[in-house]
Amino acid sequence: MAEKRVGIMDTTLRDGHQSLWATRMKTEDMFPVLEMLDQVGFAAIEMWGGATFDSCLRYLNEDPWNRLRLLRKMLPNTKLQMLLRGQNLVGYRHYADDVVTEFVKRTVDNGMDIIRVFDGLNDIRNMELPMRVAKEAGAHVQGTMVYSISPVHNLDSYVKFVKELLDVGIDSLCIKDMAGILTPYEAYNLVKRLKEFVDVPIQLHTHYTSGMASMTYLKAIEAGVDIIDCAQSPLALGTSQPATETLVAVLQGTPYDTGLDLKLLSDISEKLKEIKAKYPQAKNVSVYQVDANVLRYQIPGGMISNFISQLGDQLHLLPKVFEEVPRVREDLGYPPLVTPFSQIVGSQALMNVLAGERYKMVSNEVKNYLRGHYGRAPGPIDEEFRRRIIGDAEVITVRPADLLEPELEAARKEVALYMEKEEDVLSYALFQQVALNYLKERESRKYNIDFDLIEKTKGGYPV
Ligand code: CO
Repeated sequence: MAEKRVGIMDTTLRDGHQSLWATRMKTEDMFPVLEMLDQVGFAAIEMWGGATFDSCLRYLNEDPWNRLRLLRKMLPNTKLQMLLRGQNLVGYRHYADDVVTEFVKRTVDNGMDIIRVFDGLNDIRNMELPMRVAKEAGAHVQGTMVYSISPVHNLDSYVKFVKELLDVGIDSLCIKDMAGILTPYEAYNLVKRLKEFVDVPIQLHTHYTSGMASMTYLKAIEAGVDIIDCAQSPLALGTSQPATETLVAVLQGTPYDTGLDLKLLSDISEKLKEIKAKYPQAKNVSVYQVDANVLRYQIPGGMISNFISQLGDQLHLLPKVFEEVPRVREDLGYPPLVTPFSQIVGSQALMNVLAGERYKMVSNEVKNYLRGHYGRAPGPIDEEFRRRIIGDAEVITVRPADLLEPELEAARKEVALYMEKEEDVLSYALFQQVALNYLKERESRKYNIDFDLIEKTKGGYPV
């Protein structure tokens, strides 16, 4: 057998702390390991996108664009990678095309090399624009196929979708298993099948939640997968990825050897252990337990902890909610339980159980979903059910973002007073009040002015 080096993408600085520390890792705590990480020879380092953008502004009082610039400087020898939620960018709704275009351009301008683009529904129409802009800006475009289990998700549907991705001209393909439900033998079959016609590298992303992930990687590697996503051991396992050190050791001396230096990796992990001690979130041991509910109901760990906090003193209803989730999912044509559909399906299931009657109360998100505003459902939706929920409301069949008016100019005006650079407009276009709070605070500090007080007293100081 010919030698085939397997590449590792390091997710420590994005999915690792997003999964285990609620995305709270500060940029300053990344600094002590950057120089070493840059020497490893990873296929890429994922360090931006997903929830990190929101978290910087909302919780860390940090500018996400500054994080990107700083890490670009500190990681000169390694490709930087990010996760982009298609037309949702790094937020939770569809943004207008002008925002999507500008965001992707600025991201590449600021040093991003590889952009992984996904859509929860595998609806190519929600991915085409960001992929095209990224490509034109000179980035490597990684098209993503979201993996899910349902009567409408099967090898044939995946093959069909991957062909759509290849038609757009992707540079590599990612299989994204956000819940950690891809079994080792399924992974083998899937990768083998895709390798028959995919002529770009295939990368596998999974989570350790159900305890299978390392085995899944091994079988996928045997089937020819090119790159796997791993995190340094202090930020691995549990709801995060398998540990880099483990996979490097497992593959050593085989035809799949990664060629990475275990000594250097363990030095990095020693440093990360010191940093970990500073984070109270890292003490939450429940995220490290094998979660059998993921296997039984395909409900990701994050959803379960949400249910528990929302049920409060009605916790005895939890098993009913678990059973309701797959039923709601079926009603909606089997959307994969990934952002934003994990939240949409989860909260509707909760409402159905708490009200004691299914769909007595219906969220606006479910109504919008049934009107086609999130894209095409993976499976069929019963028309009688649809009409019961949305009445005569129009169901759209066009690309959802076609109905959105440009948003950038209005955003520019609203944020003008606090603007330091063009990217601030994008932060505001994406996260409105959350971004505004950060930008105001930053300006207040700079000029020692309390902008909130000025706003409150607009039209004259009270006497
Ligand atoms: Co992930």
